[in-house]
Amino acid sequence: MKNFTSFADAGDYQALLNKALEIKADPFGYQHVGKNKTVGLIFFNPSLRTRLSSIKAAYNLGAQAWVLNAGADSWTLEMADGAVMNGTTQEHIKDAIAVMSQYCDVLGVRTFPTLKDREADYSEEVFNKILKYATVPVISLESATLHPLQSFADLITVAEYKQTERVKVVLTWAPHVRALPQCVPNSFADWFSEISWVDFVITHPRGYELDEKFTKGARIEYDQKKAFEGADFIYAKNWSSYHDYGQILSHDQSWLVDTDHMKLTNNGKLMHCLPIRRNVEVSDAVLDSPNALIIPEAGNRVFSMQTVLHELLS
Ligand code: CP
Repeated sequence: MKNFTSFADAGDYQALLNKALEIKADPFGYQHVGKNKTVGLIFFNPSLRTRLSSIKAAYNLGAQAWVLNAGADSWTLEMADGAVMNGTTQEHIKDAIAVMSQYCDVLGVRTFPTLKDREADYSEEVFNKILKYATVPVISLESATLHPLQSFADLITVAEYKQTERVKVVLTWAPHVRALPQCVPNSFADWFSEISWVDFVITHPRGYELDEKFTKGARIEYDQKKAFEGADFIYAKNWSSYHDYGQILSHDQSWLVDTDHMKLTNNGKLMHCLPIRRNVEVSDAVLDSPNALIIPEAGNRVFSMQTVLHELLS
């Protein structure tokens, strides 16, 4: 592994999953890997889980971590190549990333999409600049199109809670009051469409089709209730339209995941990456039920990050 930005970087996913479960069983057993190493974490956008789980993962591995809230804690960054910097920007991303690479052995970066310019977002314009200018391995803490650490944590969670050899996993669109990125569902599809022991189904209203680059031929079922039938895991998430880029096309409350939806499943478990708008995406009754995995799923963010750090620092 050279960088960690998508499913493709995971390589042998089953081997990486097994390593994560090994690390989780003995979280402080690999401290030689992180000894005298520094993990740099740069956030261009807010975070609770990614920020804290990454610090904890570094700590478990015996490494130190620093965090920079880009823009708020540092100079205003210029992104444009060849810019004449006589305006409000104070430091070029080229210099900032190269300098930060001097201060760490691996660099995690979060850069959200604009949701305005699909071409710029889907070409990962900003993240690719970071990859270009970094001189140490780079981990995506969520880019414009993907959130691989979340998907890896989701895979760990499904592997831990599955009760049969094969499982049906359903990614369902859920309503929201704001336009959200496609990163989490793109990434979930990028990973789960490849897992040999998963029957993967995506359900959403028409118009919410994700980029086929990530869904990779996965079954799409427009009837949410039909999709839920016999499901072992329901992964709820809102996203804005990819085709009508960044737009909210539906507020249909019948897509809110409630106990009636869950009754259609095979005693299915409910997952969500968090943060979640309760009683907008999923009802309290479902989120507070014994079948909700949202807290252990968030806990597994430590082990997805710790495993990736282990691979990159070993
Ligand atoms: N799921 C997730 O990435 O949470 P944060 O945005 O709080 O980091």
